[in-house]
Amino acid sequence: MNLLDLNQENIPNHVAIIMDGNGRWATKRNKPRVFGHNEGMKRVVDVVENSLTIGIKYLTLYAFSTENWKRPKKEIDFLMQILIKYIDEQLNRLISNGVKINILGDIEPLPDKVVDKINYAIDSTKSNSKLILNIAINYGSRQEILRAVNLAVKDGKEVSEEEFSSYLYTKDQPDVDLLIRPGGEKRLSNFLLYQMSYAELYFSDIYWPDFKMEELLEAVKWYQERNRRFGGLK
Ligand code: IPE
Ligand code: IPE
Ligand code: MG
Repeated sequence: MNLLDLNQENIPNHVAIIMDGNGRWATKRNKPRVFGHNEGMKRVVDVVENSLTIGIKYLTLYAFSTENWKRPKKEIDFLMQILIKYIDEQLNRLISNGVKINILGDIEPLPDKVVDKINYAIDSTKSNSKLILNIAINYGSRQEILRAVNLAVKDGKEVSEEEFSSYLYTKDQPDVDLLIRPGGEKRLSNFLLYQMSYAELYFSDIYWPDFKMEELLEAVKWYQERNRRFGGLK
C-alpha cells in the first residue's frame, strides 16, 4: 500500500489516535514497560510526518489520560520525561513543517518543567496552520465535558451545540472523522466522547510501537471505504 492508493478527494480531516500497547510490546520482548514508551515516541515522530504527507489537517494523539495517574510513579515520571524529550528533539522540525501544537487537557498538575516546555512549544508554533497537532495530556472526556458545562454555567447561559463545542478543548476544530486504536482493545477509554459522535472507529491488534506508515495508510484506506450516512440515507 502506498500514498497513491488513497483517494485524494476523501482524506479524513481529523484523525485521533489512542496510542495503546506500548507496555505489552515491551513485555513481549522481555523489556521493561518504559522501553515500549520510548519506542512509541518514535512512532509519534513518524505519525506527525506521515499525517503531513497524507494531508491530514488535524491530528489528535492521546498521550496521558486522567486515569493514567493510577500507574506506578516511576512509569508516570518516565512519560513526563519523554514528553520533554519529544519537544526538545522535535520542536524545530515542527516549526519548519508548519505544525501547530495544541493541548487537550489540564496540564496544571504536571511538573513545572513539563508545563514550561509545553507552553514554550505552544507559543513557538502558534502561527503555524498546516497541521494542528492536539496532544491530549491529563485528558479525560468526562472532565472536559464537565468543564465545558461549568464554563457555560459561569457565563450564565443556555448553549447551542455550536456554542457548547466552543467550550471544549477542541474549540474551532472539526469533529473527529477517524479514530484509530492500536493495541487490540475495543474501547474508547474516556477519549473525545463528544467529538467522536460520528467518527469511524478503526481498531487494530498491532501495538503502537509497530504502527508505522503502512498501518496508517491501511486505516485511512479503510476509512475511505466507509459509507458515512450521519443518520441520513446515502
Ligand atoms: C499506551 O500504552 C501509552 C499510555 C497509556 C501512556 P500502554 O502503556 O497503555 O501499554 P499497554 O496497553 O499496557 O500495553
Ligand atoms: C488509553 O490507554 C490512554 C492512552 C493511550 C494515553 P490505556 O492503556 O490507559 O487504556 P485502558 O486502561 O486500557 O482502558
Ligand atoms: Mg494500555
